[in-house]
Amino acid sequence: MDTSGKIITCRAAIAWTANSSLSIEEVQVEPPKAGEVRIKMVSTGICGTDDHTIKGLLSAVFPFIPGHEGAGIVESIGKGVCSVKPGDKVLTLIIPQCRECSSCLHPKGNFCEKQDVLPSSGLMLDGTSRFICKGKKIHHSFRASTFTEYTVVPEIAVAKIDDAAPLDKVSLISCEVPTGYGAAVHSAKVTRGSTCVVYGLGGIGSAIVMGCKASGASRIIGVDINEEKFPRARALGVTDCLNPQKLKKPVQQVVREMTGVGVDFAFEAIGLSDVMLAAWDSCHLSHGVCLIVGVAPVNSKLSLAAPMIVSGRTLKGVCLGDYKTRDCIPQLVTSYLQNKINIDPLVTHQLPFDQLHKAFELYHAGKTIRCILLF
Ligand code: APR
Ligand code: ZN
Repeated sequence: MDTSGKIITCRAAIAWTANSSLSIEEVQVEPPKAGEVRIKMVSTGICGTDDHTIKGLLSAVFPFIPGHEGAGIVESIGKGVCSVKPGDKVLTLIIPQCRECSSCLHPKGNFCEKQDVLPSSGLMLDGTSRFICKGKKIHHSFRASTFTEYTVVPEIAVAKIDDAAPLDKVSLISCEVPTGYGAAVHSAKVTRGSTCVVYGLGGIGSAIVMGCKASGASRIIGVDINEEKFPRARALGVTDCLNPQKLKKPVQQVVREMTGVGVDFAFEAIGLSDVMLAAWDSCHLSHGVCLIVGVAPVNSKLSLAAPMIVSGRTLKGVCLGDYKTRDCIPQLVTSYLQNKINIDPLVTHQLPFDQLHKAFELYHAGKTIRCILLF
């Protein structure tokens, strides 16, 4: 049945208010307007950011449809869309690439001015929404909204990927893989023989570990309060595991002592300002590089010992591995298909979309690295 130009009624998960449980509802999804794409979702990962957004810790406008790590097939396109066509396999992009703004035109960096994360308006580029439920306007999240059978996103937030890509898995390449693996290999450019510490061994931290290992790091220290994460982290390349709650000294001091002076590269993949400080203080004073990958709660602040900044360390934030998203993320999919990156160990669970609540229970119990929901 040709659905183009028509409203589609389908199932979607809605966060009605902060900290309430998601409810699966029947929603109406409007057709894409000019410059927009409607996607039939095939899979979506559950990322720490989704959990934090639903809890109201990050910028979001309620009610909204969460989820941003998605893979699907283009159902229809609005006027003027030329980079994808119906039937194409695509990934949703939490950071768009408009190719026109100051970020996109700069050779480095990727934080496109058309992003809708910091802060989030929950609206399309024209200031309206494409979702309705029970007669109410429902907001989008992060230019994506993937916890729905159909979504509408701007063309600039869609990456066309290889026709051979397995859509039940590559949703992870929409966020987790570029965010984690990319932070290590592309943004930090971890060097052969270097020492690294990764704070947080969840989905993003695991992908960072993979990137450190692929770059030839000689020592990778993994830090997590959940020791259930350690065996898998070791399998991915972590050489030493630390549970900060079981240490007699601050974890950053232990990391410095283990490496003599401090690590070459430190990564924060949790989103807590205290841990960001620990990562910064784990670094070698002269040339250590600290990458902040986790997204901290709105209005939280970071307070650094000012005199110590001069010694030469670098503190750098990074989203999606600094990749210019539409240009580079499809290449990561191709690398996966060519067996140059193996994302399979990151997928610990796959469940049907209607078992969303079970997926969140597993996530909250710390049992998952990534749970992928299948439509
Ligand atoms: N110290 C050490 N580890 C911690 C702490 C802490 N204080 N608090 C939580 N953790 C661990 C958890 O046990 C978990 O293993 O951090 C890990 C976080 O992983 P996930 O919940 O799987 O989240 P993830 O999807 O990896 O996202 C992490 O990256 O993209 C950002 O916004 C996202 O801030 C989030 C972060
Ligand atoms: Zn841009």
